[in-house]
Amino acid sequence: MNFESVLERSVDRAEYDFVAETEAAKPAISVIGLGYVGAVSMACLSHLGFRMVGVDVSREKVDAIRAGASPIVEERLGELLHEGASCGLIDATQNLVAAVLDTNVTFLSVGTPTSKDGGCDFTYVRQASRAIGQALSLKSAYHVVVLRCSVPPGTTLDVVVPEIERASGKKLGLDFGVCFNPEFLREGVAVADFFAPPKTVVGASDKRAEATVTAIYEAVDKNVIFTSIEAAEMVKYVDNVWHATKVAFANEVGRLCKKLSIDSHDVMNIFVKDLKLNLSPYYLKPGFAFGGSCLPKEVRAVSHIAHELGVEVPLVDSLMVTNKSHIKQAVDLLEPFAGKRIGFLGVTFKPGTDDLRESPTLEVMATLLAKGESISAYDPNLHFGPLLQSQIDYVRHAVPAQAKLMDELQSLTVASANDLFETCDVVVVSHATEQFRAVVNNRPTKVHVLDLARLFKELPDDATYQGIAW
Ligand SMILES: NC(=O)c1ccc[n+]([C@@H]2O[C@H](COP(=O)([O-])OP(=O)(O)OC[C@H]3O[C@@H](n4cnc5c(N)ncnc54)[C@H](O)[C@@H]3O)[C@@H](O)[C@H]2O)c1
Repeated sequence: MNFESVLERSVDRAEYDFVAETEAAKPAISVIGLGYVGAVSMACLSHLGFRMVGVDVSREKVDAIRAGASPIVEERLGELLHEGASCGLIDATQNLVAAVLDTNVTFLSVGTPTSKDGGCDFTYVRQASRAIGQALSLKSAYHVVVLRCSVPPGTTLDVVVPEIERASGKKLGLDFGVCFNPEFLREGVAVADFFAPPKTVVGASDKRAEATVTAIYEAVDKNVIFTSIEAAEMVKYVDNVWHATKVAFANEVGRLCKKLSIDSHDVMNIFVKDLKLNLSPYYLKPGFAFGGSCLPKEVRAVSHIAHELGVEVPLVDSLMVTNKSHIKQAVDLLEPFAGKRIGFLGVTFKPGTDDLRESPTLEVMATLLAKGESISAYDPNLHFGPLLQSQIDYVRHAVPAQAKLMDELQSLTVASANDLFETCDVVVVSHATEQFRAVVNNRPTKVHVLDLARLFKELPDDATYQGIAW
């Protein structure tokens, strides 16, 4: 299609619909925004045999892509763009409406810079979405819009879709579908990452849109991860925050090691060899606060060493702060039950131990007790006797705020989990054990549950159940 002629004459709807229908098997794809993400999509998808039409407001970028030259520095990008342009699979234009009309699928990869208030600036996303809507108003065939930008959860459905619907008069799910498909490439190795992605994630408005995007990625990833649009949006942010956390963590370790004349690379090379606890899904599922005899103690110790040496470790310092916030979250979620009977199922710092030291559950219980709330507890590992008493004495000593709770712990403890449910209005579950799962499932229907341990993979559809962070 000649884009310049599209600018000059009125649009022939039948011509565009024909394009859409005949290319449905291997859809033609327009890419809006020819920056680091868009240019790589153009090059790599054309290499897979897709006909690509790039769009940018920048004349220079459009000219470069049309000529098969890379507008940015990126390994292998120029080679693939040249290949695509030479065999007629790559074209580019400044005319967004024409590009959308000439294709079946539109990838949106404009910039989403930081706004003045620190949030996300939607200006380019809105402008482009509106123009996509204008194009769709001229098209009767179904079209799929794929948002590739990194955006806050809710943007696809609350910003992109309303802009398209308003400008087009069309309806999501009927006339067009949307997907959020986050981009995980790393600049510098973006082409290699495209052909061997760490993962491919798609959140779609409907099955047709989902199938269209899945088929596009079939050659590079047969195991697309499907999720909700909002979860797909969130995953991208969470990934980058995690990567930033890793870098900041490693650098704090490095600064500390340097001051201690220890080679940080020796330390971290050993650290990364632990694929069971360090680099693994372990400790990475939301649940309750950390506690026990080691983690809080060692976090404090590392902070202390750093401060003694004059090394700044704000990330390590913040760990106890964020842990406190999580304990407060549990207390806050129990606020509506003030004056009611509150039970605790699981008291020790984790299941399978009688260790009470720095159990975050004790902190919640002590806070409620100090407020005058009526609390009780059950834990199958609490066997009151001389051994447990020494632990209770230790906690009473180490944490004055929990002294009253330690004095009353035995009298607050009931004989069974069932007793707890029979005598409480709400039960706080701290341990994800089979026993607790069964008793929660079979509880009297009026008893509320606050789950701190994620007892169930699938969340119960039940107004009396809520989780601390899900
Ligand atoms: N760069 C990365 O490594 C990377 C990786 C993953 C995700 N992302 C995300 O992808 C998005 C794009 O990132 P980028 O680095 O490619 O941005 P970029 O700034 O390099 O490119 C964006 C392009 O969009 C163009 N543009 C803006 N408004 C337009 C409009 N209305 N019509 C047509 N073109 C328009 C700009 O001229 C620019 O060329 C961002 O949301 C970013 O956060 C980037």
